Amino acid sequence: MKKRRILITSALPYANSNQHLGNVAGAYLPADIYARYQRLKGNEVLYICGSDEHGVPVTISAMNEKTTPKAIIDKYHFENKEAFEKLGMSFDNYSRTSLPIHHQTAQEFFLDLYNKGILIEKKDKQLFCVKDNMFLPDRYVEGTCPYCQNPDARGDQCEKCGNILTPETIVNPKCKICGSTPEVRETKHLFFPFGKYQKELEEYVFSKKDWKENVIQYCQGWFKAGLEDRAVTRDMEWGIKVPVPGYENKVIYVWIEAVLGYVSATKEWALNNNQPDKWKEFWCNEETEYYAFIGKDNIVFHCIIMPAMFIARGGFILPKNVPANEFFNFEGKKFSKSRNWGISLKEFLEHFPPDPLRYTIAINLPETHDTDFYWSDFQARNNNELADILGNFVNRTISFANNYFNSTVPERKTISALDSEIIDYMKIAPKRIEDLFEKFKIRDGVIEIMNVARKANKYFNDSEPWKTRKENPDQCATTINICLEIVRLLSIITEPILPFTAEKIRKLLNLPKTEPGSWDTAGELQLAYGSTINKAEILFTKIEDEMLKPLILKYSNPNSEETKSNSKIEPIKETITIDEFKNVDIRVVKVLECEKIPKSTKLLKLKVKLGNEEKTIVAGIAQHYEPENLIGKSIVILANLEHAKLMGIESQGMVLAAKDSNGNLSLLFPDKEISDGSIVG
Ligand code: MF3
Ligand code: ZN
Repeated sequence: MKKRRILITSALPYANSNQHLGNVAGAYLPADIYARYQRLKGNEVLYICGSDEHGVPVTISAMNEKTTPKAIIDKYHFENKEAFEKLGMSFDNYSRTSLPIHHQTAQEFFLDLYNKGILIEKKDKQLFCVKDNMFLPDRYVEGTCPYCQNPDARGDQCEKCGNILTPETIVNPKCKICGSTPEVRETKHLFFPFGKYQKELEEYVFSKKDWKENVIQYCQGWFKAGLEDRAVTRDMEWGIKVPVPGYENKVIYVWIEAVLGYVSATKEWALNNNQPDKWKEFWCNEETEYYAFIGKDNIVFHCIIMPAMFIARGGFILPKNVPANEFFNFEGKKFSKSRNWGISLKEFLEHFPPDPLRYTIAINLPETHDTDFYWSDFQARNNNELADILGNFVNRTISFANNYFNSTVPERKTISALDSEIIDYMKIAPKRIEDLFEKFKIRDGVIEIMNVARKANKYFNDSEPWKTRKENPDQCATTINICLEIVRLLSIITEPILPFTAEKIRKLLNLPKTEPGSWDTAGELQLAYGSTINKAEILFTKIEDEMLKPLILKYSNPNSEETKSNSKIEPIKETITIDEFKNVDIRVVKVLECEKIPKSTKLLKLKVKLGNEEKTIVAGIAQHYEPENLIGKSIVILANLEHAKLMGIESQGMVLAAKDSNGNLSLLFPDKEISDGSIVG
């Protein structure tokens, strides 16, 4: 059969943080399994990834960590690269978008679109922070999502509903740097007219009958709403300069250049291999199959934005499939660094070897719905499946051959019905897995691989070699021969998921590393009679509860000391005089009534008593206090605040509460019984 040429990319991770297990499950591990499998099939594979090093995510991290963007990308590029290596990711190149080759590629591509008259200049209203004296692109703005009302939406995308946003559409926008409300100012930008390409994009997407349902539906939603012009430049310093006169102080929008990072990484790979033009075989040849692995939040960029750019430019192939995964969460909740929930890949691999993690993630891949990492599941997968099924089968087979066949491969002399049944099963096993992998059902393929080891254990048990050794030595030899052949089969088919273990198994059998193309014949009997094998060795160590306890405390405990010390403390505001403070009237009041405000998840309405006076106050504390628990309590309010209408109710003061950077909220209560109306000061 003709060799296929296969290009595989995984979304370029932002070099602004350590990749966590959720990221690994989304775009990296499935792509690596697929790449390894295709190499074993003997196809020509190029697997590309690298760091996405521009854009607001990087500059904001620099701000938070009080350092420069350059220091951030250097730190996280190398940390992520190293963690991926430890995990056994088989990238052919792991590049960086800060490299000159990428800047050139992106500028050349951009300029070509500009020269073709595709990009349009438009005046645009954008948010500007007067205090910080800068335009606020993308994630520099936070506020409420106009689509789903999520109060924590970022200026570029709402994590809750997945819509991509622009800062101007955010409700109640706030500057991420200083928290103030930005104003609208005019600036000019170059726009890409996505609408012009809608028809071609629809034809492209809807011609793909084998794409995942969620991906097609997502694109459908975009097409329905109608594609619009989008700004492809930004008012920022950090990034790739726009190569157009009059735009010297602007950079190319990060997403527009980041997707081209795949191309520049391929160019870099070609140069390193002394075949500078070879990148074109992958990107500019219709015979190449291109698969773009991503998480679901990247769908629009890979199924609409990148294809539109490639169509506009011409000469580039489009993805044949975009197997986007759903989210992989941690113990039932989203990974969150600020809430100390979850563990990074780097940290995980400081405690455990890579293969058990690869297996646990692979068998839980969020292919059709969100899934989770659970410590208990990790332990069970390692102990009950890897150690007790796969490890046990390899170990009992090798030990038996060590002990009773002088560490050699015995001959098959007689073939029983049981033997021929398993021989037939072996022959078709690779094909069964292959059919699943080719459909990007990686998870099911992994289950099928473990089933081979399950079946092998059953064959060993049913064959009872410990009995036939004395009663029927020829049969015993056949059994152990076949078991060794299954061990060899496993050393090939487990390689995509468990590359380190597969290599160990090969060593046990005295076989060299698996060769490209060995998949198809993996199920055939091929060990030479009499060849020697090595001494058995434990493949997987059991994980005890004791090993997990400290990790659970450290990484899955939102109230740990670590979380507390991670909290950001707001700087103290400018000094004021005592007279200025005297203008602020803070009082103790007694809560008479308290109820939820219909249609609001955050607000409570309180009626409070201040001496002879009664006040109505609306407070954003509904997520922290039950109304009935506040009735009768004394609380502290700001009494002379100008009245404001909230949800149609006039609020005549403000409840005082303490709030930390993790969003915890605590009302202030007087420490002793004290009458309402008392002055706080
Ligand atoms: N850095 C982006 C993210 O982490 C993904 C970029 S994918 C690319 O979500 F194609 F643009 F490189
Ligand atoms: Zn600001």
